[in-house]
Amino acid sequence: MTSSEPPGTTPLDPDESEGLLHDHVSTREELNQLEEANIQLGQEWAQRRAVMTNRPVDVLIETFLFELHRRMFHEVWDWAGKIRKTNKNLGVDKAEIRPEVRKLIYDARYWRENSTYPPDELAVRFHHRLVLIHPFPNGNGRHARMMADLVVQQAGRPPFSWGDQSLTSTFELRSSYISALREADQGDLAPLVRFART
Ligand SMILES: Nc1ncnc2c1ncn2[C@@H]1O[C@H](COP(=O)(O)OP(=O)(O)OP(=O)(O)O)[C@@H](O)[C@H]1O
Ligand SMILES: [Mg+2]
Repeated sequence: MTSSEPPGTTPLDPDESEGLLHDHVSTREELNQLEEANIQLGQEWAQRRAVMTNRPVDVLIETFLFELHRRMFHEVWDWAGKIRKTNKNLGVDKAEIRPEVRKLIYDARYWRENSTYPPDELAVRFHHRLVLIHPFPNGNGRHARMMADLVVQQAGRPPFSWGDQSLTSTFELRSSYISALREADQGDLAPLVRFART
């Protein structure tokens, strides 16, 4: 499975692939379709709760962040919404995930209260920090993009376009996304903010 993945994806550990809730899935395309249908449901759930309502829940809350991942993947993976139990080539040590997520949430709330950054930059910084933590066995990119969309929507801005096509399947787009993330790793957020709005 690993060698055919586009760049910047996290390989699944064998025991994590075992968390697949469907036993008839044999190709990556089938898996993608199942995941996409589930993500769609998660997105509708999030929009109803956090955007299209008179009493939106704040998305900068730990329980919301984990619940969103669960809603995006719970029909496909039994580890949906659960912190990863193994270390990866990307992401903090598994023991640091919970405290790092908590710190990120506090930082982002502070940025919001103090208008430390313009709303797009705030949401993109949040996205970048979250994928660097890499809380879940998989789905970190898609989850962190949706979180950023919700954060920016709650600031009254439209959701991001993230290159305007499927980042998971378009090789070139994915490469620009990953290189913008790498520039953010070096402290320059501008390319990622630009990418998020293309
Ligand atoms: N050098 C890097 N710096 C920061 N983040 C990175 C880097 N390389 C990869 N990432 C992030 O890790 C994500 C991949 O992690 P994972 O496979 O858990 O997410 P995913 O949702 O399955 O992936 P996808 O982006 O294909 O939808 C990428 O989408 C990207 O956000
Ligand atoms: Mg992945």
